[in-house]
Amino acid sequence: MASPTTQIMAGLTTPDPQPPATQPAPELTIVVPTFNERANVPMVVERVRKALAGVAWEIIFVDDDSPDGTSAVVRELGARDARVRGIRRVGRRGLAGACIEGMLASQARYIAVMDADLQHDERALVDMLELLRAGQHDLVIGSRYVSNGSAGGLSPKRLASSRLAGLLARWLLGIPVSDPMSGFFMLRREVLDETAPRLATQGFKILADLLSSAGSKVRVAEIPYDFRPRLHGTSKLDAQVVLDFLGLLAAKATGNVVPVRFVSFLLVGATGIIVHLAALKAALATLGLEFGAAQSLATLVAMTSNFFLNNALTYRDQRLTGLAALKGLAAFYAICAVGAVSNIGVATWLYSNEPIWWLAGLSGSVVGAVWNYTLSSALVWRR
Ligand code: GDD
Ligand code: MN
Repeated sequence: MASPTTQIMAGLTTPDPQPPATQPAPELTIVVPTFNERANVPMVVERVRKALAGVAWEIIFVDDDSPDGTSAVVRELGARDARVRGIRRVGRRGLAGACIEGMLASQARYIAVMDADLQHDERALVDMLELLRAGQHDLVIGSRYVSNGSAGGLSPKRLASSRLAGLLARWLLGIPVSDPMSGFFMLRREVLDETAPRLATQGFKILADLLSSAGSKVRVAEIPYDFRPRLHGTSKLDAQVVLDFLGLLAAKATGNVVPVRFVSFLLVGATGIIVHLAALKAALATLGLEFGAAQSLATLVAMTSNFFLNNALTYRDQRLTGLAALKGLAAFYAICAVGAVSNIGVATWLYSNEPIWWLAGLSGSVVGAVWNYTLSSALVWRR
């Protein structure tokens, strides 16, 4: 088989064929986000082909420039079958953002989202499509938790956290469905057109976000499917995903007032308090420093730890390395120093007007945190 690159180059040198006759958009687009899924992609296409015989469909892989060359495999398949399309996103990462971008690229009447790792049962697509065609529903969820569905492909630990996340989402976001964490669903395109401007592109939980943004007007159905174990490659769900999810809950619970990233920034700040106390104790007990010197050293250590945690988690899509990281660290110190001054200023001023210690202290901290977050986002990890 010729390499993907030679095929692409060959395509460039052949003269344009006759322009094709007008062709209407397919009825169904299946959006498949991918990151390092090259071994799974051909199988997904094969299975969809089989499952959707007789349906006018297309599949759009949205790949975040996977190092394993997933995009090249998609191009190769697309060269042979025009129903296979690919979007290669460069310099961006994120499941939700990839799904949104793929869905927005569709002209179809119905749009599905499905994972590339064959954990979702493509045969459920036909049932979903029929439900939407019947006109009684706007969105159909493939659920592991309605009767006849199963989560066999999940480890006990993953099953427990998936259940817990589902519970939290139902409670906080007011979404009355059994599997709001599902990554497998199909919707009428109007649902997307209406909600797209309000969706968070960060994070994993695209369906929970869609449901809460759409509100109670959408008519939702759930159908069971068996969640299969992953065949090739590895899962990308990690600590960052959990952090993002907490952020999404906070963002949605406060009507988007609290941005997802800010919650991550605050959680990192909370770990900074622990680091600070540990460093303070060490500086006093082990190094035998005076309190003032020990406190200053502990502050520096905590700021440094906050910087690197934020660099690794909160701003991982804009992570700084090498010299840029050192420059960023210096800027972060400066921002936090001013943040501390404004924190103390606000708290002292409030306390002199209204001597409620906790209110003054809390307000100062909020002002400091918002300042640190806003300036860090604008200056240290700017896009
Ligand atoms: N473009 C892009 N960018 N795709 C991504 C990214 C990313 O940053 N991260 C993951 N993906 C793709 C994977 O390649 C895969 O096709 C799909 O998104 C799901 O990723 P997995 O890593 O397989 O996730 P999972 O199996 O642990 O989680 C699935 O089940 C969860 C419920 O337990 C997903 O469907 C989740 O959405 C779902 O909540
Ligand atoms: Mn998976």
